[in-house]
Amino acid sequence: MRIVAAISLAAASLAFSSCSGGGEEAAAGGPPPMPQPITMAKRPDAAGGEALYVEYCIMCHGPNGMGSGLLARRMDEGNLELRDNLTPEFVITAARMGIGNMPAIPRGEVSDEDLQAIGEYLAAGPHGGGQ
Ligand code: HEC
Repeated sequence: MRIVAAISLAAASLAFSSCSGGGEEAAAGGPPPMPQPITMAKRPDAAGGEALYVEYCIMCHGPNGMGSGLLARRMDEGNLELRDNLTPEFVITAARMGIGNMPAIPRGEVSDEDLQAIGEYLAAGPHGGGQ
């Protein structure tokens, strides 16, 4: 389902590429291309907690995400995947209760089991380059 949506999105952006400005062929002197979002397409080998993190969290917590930007204001490391001091309990509590500008994430969106896997993945960090 999501894959189908991603493919049709890609097709749509191809169809409109003349005005999207998001491609490699951005006009000289135009704005820099938008950073590419991180999706499973960029992390084909992701599994378990990492895959769930990519699915549910990385849109805000990736390198250019607003979560990373806000956290970088008060933490040494803004990217959750590069942290070495997270515990599953803290990640779960922050996600369920919401924290600062992050809305609470209800069970209907991310199950307890999935959130536990995400918490364990982050607690086992730091991971990769967050790419
Ligand atoms: C809609 C964007 C958004 C999504 C989606 C999101 N977050 Fe966040 N998250 C934020 C923002 C913004 C902050 C920073 C809150 C602040 O400091 O004001 C944050 C903060 C956090 C923190 C606190 C880190 C700290 O050290 O204080 C944790 C942990 C966290 N998020 C985990 C998650 C997890 C796990 C997911 C996925 C299940 C997730 N977030 C999804 C926006 C998001």
